[in-house]
Parts: sequence; C-alpha cells; structure tokens
Amino acid sequence: MRKINIFDTTLRDGEQSAGVNLNLHEKLEIARQLERLGVDIIEAGFPAASKGDFQAVQAIAQTVRNCSVTGLSRSVQSDIDAAWEALKDGAEPRLHVFIATSPIHMQYKLRMTPEQVIETAVESVRYAKKYFPIVQWSAEDACRSDLPFLATIIERVIEAGANVINIPDTVGYITPKQYGDIFSFLKKNVRNIEKINLSAHCHDDLGMAVANSLAAIEAGATQIEGTINGIGERAGNAAIEEVAVALYIRKDYYQAETGLNLQEIKRTSNLVSKLTGMIVPPNKAIVGKNAFAHESGIHQDGVLKEKTTYEIISPQLVGVQSNSMVLGKHSGRHAFRTRIQELGYALTEEEVNRLFVRFKDLADKKKDITDDDLIALILDEKLDT
Ligand code: KIV
Ligand code: ZN
Repeated sequence: MRKINIFDTTLRDGEQSAGVNLNLHEKLEIARQLERLGVDIIEAGFPAASKGDFQAVQAIAQTVRNCSVTGLSRSVQSDIDAAWEALKDGAEPRLHVFIATSPIHMQYKLRMTPEQVIETAVESVRYAKKYFPIVQWSAEDACRSDLPFLATIIERVIEAGANVINIPDTVGYITPKQYGDIFSFLKKNVRNIEKINLSAHCHDDLGMAVANSLAAIEAGATQIEGTINGIGERAGNAAIEEVAVALYIRKDYYQAETGLNLQEIKRTSNLVSKLTGMIVPPNKAIVGKNAFAHESGIHQDGVLKEKTTYEIISPQLVGVQSNSMVLGKHSGRHAFRTRIQELGYALTEEEVNRLFVRFKDLADKKKDITDDDLIALILDEKLDT
C-alpha cells in the first residue's frame, strides 16, 4: 500500500470560507483534534496576514507535537520571515510558499512576465531554505497554466530546494481525467520529480474536488490537501474525510492508504461545524446526519437482514454509534415492528398490523414519525382494544 500524506488546511483555506472567523482558542482546539485524527500536516494559517493569524500559528506550532505544522506565505521575504518566527518552535517546521503560474493570474493579478515569476519563485524557495528544513511550493491556478511552463518552473524550484510540489486547482476548474493527466505529464517531464512529494489541492466549484483528488492519487500524487467537512473559499475544498474513507473502502482499487484514525472523523466534523458555524448538510457523505439513515421499507428490510445490503461503510468505522431507521411513509413493516420492540412494547402480530395501517396514515401527513408519535399510537391502540 502506498502511504498518502494528509495535509489539512481547515485552519487556513477552510477559515477563508465566507463568514468564518476562528479565534486562537478555537483554532487550538481544532488543531488538537486534527492531531488526534492523525493528519500529517496542519496548515495553521497565514502568519503575515494579521497579528491574530500569527499568534494562532505560533500557538499551534508550539502545542502540536505529532504533526508537522505549516503556514502560508507569498513569495516575499517579509512573509517568509514572519512564517519562520511563527513556526520555528514546531516539531517539524515547514513553509508553504506560493505564486500564481496561469497566464490570467500572471498578467492581471501579478502583472509579471513568466520569466519574472520563475525568478521570484526560485528566489523565495532559496530564501525559505535558509530557515526551513521542509519547503512546499505551490503553483497557484496550476490547472489553467501552460503545462510546459509549469514543468519548467517546477524543475527550477526543485533545484532551489523545494521538497513538496503542490498542484492546486485553485478555481475548481479541472476534471478528474485532466487532473490525472497533469500529474502524469509532470512525472514524465520534470527532472528529479521522483525526489519530492507531489501534492493535490482541489476546490469544489464544479463539485469534483474529491474525485479530482482521487484521480491525482491514481496518477502518482503522494499528498492530498483538503479540509474537514470540505469547508473553504467559495464552494470549498476537497473533504478530507471523503478522500480518506474512499481510500479505505476502495483500497482494493487505489492500493493506497492514509495514516488517519478514521474513528475520529465524526468527532472532528462535529467540532469544526460547531466552531465555524458551518452546518453540515444532512446528505453529506460520511458525516451528514443521513449518511447512515435508511428510510425506505425495501432498504430497511435489507439492512435489518444483512447490513451490507445497503451500507458500504460501517458507521462505527468513522465514529458514528450506529445506523438509524427513519420511520416515514416509505418505511416497511419490518423496521416498524423492530422499532416498537426496541421501545419495549410486546405487541401481537395482529396489533402490529392494525397499528401499521394507522402509522402509514400518519406518515402521509407528517414527514418523520418520532418515537413519541409511535408511543402515542400504541397507547391509543391499546385504549381502543
Ligand atoms: O487554492 C489555492 O491555490 C491555494 C494556494 C494558496 C495553495 O489555496
Ligand atoms: Zn486553496
């Protein structure tokens, strides 16, 4: 099995979600939980962005011992200096330095020629290596960049000492096949690429961040970047829990694994949701409230007979206590009878059948039937008989 490093950017790209602002204590609490989850790298913030960000990155670097802590930096010396000050006490300080490489970004945002971008990138990596044992270099908007240019600049920053090369799909534009092809192209055309870690960083504008990350793994990426619950700028980043569980459940196919302690996933998701105020949609894969809930009678009957009929992931794998049978108008007699028994009522088959008719009537008028609704129905039925 190939080991895939997990680079968590919940506290940096995740915090860039509109409306999210975490204070130092909240960031520390999330960082400690990410350490329990077993991520390899925590991107704790952007030290030069503000005093608050600097202090949070520093506190996390000084606290977390089992992960490498990193901070983001533009390709300017003052950012790199600030990042070193914040990160130097970390267990394994690393810098994440970036510059844009797409024609759109170079022309309109940076107002630099491609040659100037190469020069600046090389200079920033050389400067960073004076401090940092590990330097990750990112080509912002890599997926809209000219591929031969991307290969050239990557070769140059590797020569300058970069240890990790990240290929961000900054605007969530790429498709899985195309993203995999970029990794294959770089592996074929960049000298010494086998000496560094190749990283994928995907945004979800077209809903393909996780699929793209998995395609990158197939094409040789050794690091995946993402956030818990997929939070992040605009439509968010690749959801780490989805990538990790996909690799685990389909290890037959991917032949790759993360070092995550998967049982910590639900707890981490709950914490991030609570502290950021970003609600997890009920149908969200792995961590949504409905991810292990069965409503239709056919599914409920199948799961009650044998879980794997409709559950490819055991809820306990990701720290969820159990699956649930939601009683509603699609539910069948099997789940209905089971729930009555779980509530402690021993009814005859005839009573169950009569009650089932009344339950269906009620379910036509009301979305979810709660235990209280069921108990009321049972007591009413008992009074009638
Ligand atoms: O999406 C992006 O390009 C980024 C970089 C700063 C790595 O977040
Ligand atoms: Zn990003």
